[in-house]
Amino acid sequence: GALITFMKQQRFDGKIGESVTFPTFTFSVSKDFKTKHIAVLGLGDRKTCTADTVRTVGGHLVKLAERVNAKTVATILHGAEIDGLNVSESSQALIEGVLLSDYRFHAFHGTKRKGETPRAHLSTLMIAETNRRAYARAQEGIARGRILAEATTYARDLVNTPSSHMTPRHLADEAKRLAGNNITVKIMDEKDMERKKMTAALAVARGSQHPPFAVHLVYRPRSAKKKIAIVGKAVTFDSGGLSLKPAEHMETMKCDMGGAATVLGLFRALKFLTPDVEVHGIFLAVENMPSGAAYRPGDVVTAKNGMTIEIRNTDAEGRVTLADALSYAADLKPDAIIDLATLTGACVVALGEEVAAVYATNDKLAERLVEAGKDVGEPLWRMPLVDAYNQHIASQIADLKNTGAHGGGSITAALFLKNFVGSIPWAHLDIAGPAYTERETRSDQPYGASGYGVRLLAKYLMERKY
Ligand code: BES
Ligand code: MN
Ligand code: ZN
Repeated sequence: GALITFMKQQRFDGKIGESVTFPTFTFSVSKDFKTKHIAVLGLGDRKTCTADTVRTVGGHLVKLAERVNAKTVATILHGAEIDGLNVSESSQALIEGVLLSDYRFHAFHGTKRKGETPRAHLSTLMIAETNRRAYARAQEGIARGRILAEATTYARDLVNTPSSHMTPRHLADEAKRLAGNNITVKIMDEKDMERKKMTAALAVARGSQHPPFAVHLVYRPRSAKKKIAIVGKAVTFDSGGLSLKPAEHMETMKCDMGGAATVLGLFRALKFLTPDVEVHGIFLAVENMPSGAAYRPGDVVTAKNGMTIEIRNTDAEGRVTLADALSYAADLKPDAIIDLATLTGACVVALGEEVAAVYATNDKLAERLVEAGKDVGEPLWRMPLVDAYNQHIASQIADLKNTGAHGGGSITAALFLKNFVGSIPWAHLDIAGPAYTERETRSDQPYGASGYGVRLLAKYLMERKY
């Protein structure tokens, strides 16, 4: 009764994001009663409580614990068994929210914050569940939540690591480390890339001191009827090249391999989730730098599929590297190709930092990705492949040019990519907005890289509908 009265006094009405905490003053009560604080968190309306609500609340829980300096937290499962949300989903979402919220990138703190660990705050999370049957399902959800959160924070680490360290070679080495069991990894160096006619990507790489690498991962389960290719943009740093970026725009361009980081994070999860679909992960790792050897505006480069590209702006490098990566993926004849790329600033203007764009040649594929995005809290918005805008990327001297005027920059970039997937069902995710953020956009999204797409793609692949 006292708690209810207190909550009423605090005007707590259970909205999402609301909370009350009260000290129990246990030091004055009994030695056996170790709970120092009790927290009540709002879950919002019962009818709209989804897995993503629980995930968000998991994030709130970490913040609350931080505020009262609690290292150990015990909780019940939120929203379990109401309106389509079951124990397994609820516990998975809770673990994801907690682990993703508690993430910090400390690898480069020197003397100042020495000894701090990536787990920012909590050391123990206890889940109280008395129902035996629910207990087993909760364990299952917790295991899955752990795998997915860990894969996501791995992707975050890759993106947060400065470009001085996260070179194309480093990115390829990370892929190599994922090999084993049901995953094989093929690394192609500059020579191999030449032999494979990846001359568009090689042109982008030419200005850098760091040689490029092409990476092809394959996850092969025992029986698979379908084959999906996931392609990631892997520009380890985007200076813009000779079409140099202004200083402020360059500050966060270590994030430009975010697509590849998602591919690697996904494969890390696939190892444990073992869906029955064959998955190919492909990225061409390059650095986009200006130098005497750099590719230039006005150059014409040839992509792997034979198409020629007039370079108008060396800062539109993502699509040039993806031209080869997508051609390579199409040659594998998968049932679908999905690419993820921090492709355009225009997409950030259109949809902001919290929503990615999806372009697709196949409605079912687009719908399934949008659905998966809703479930995991990585929102996607379908955008149109406006046929008429193809004229904006038509070149007088080559098959295509790499920039268009007249606005719609995210759309023309997508239209450009479409030339390299042949007739294979394809979806393109422009993740320039959500891949990286320097403010906390959600309770489970701290400063820096998000690992956007790892959980979305895992969800999509686990649904068994391709
Ligand atoms: N990597 C950038 C896009 C980007 C912008 C990613 C902001 C993340 C945050 C991409 O290579 C780029 O520079 N795009 C240009 C294209 C333009 C030159 C046609 C852009 O968006 O300005
Ligand atoms: Mn660029
Ligand atoms: Zn870029």
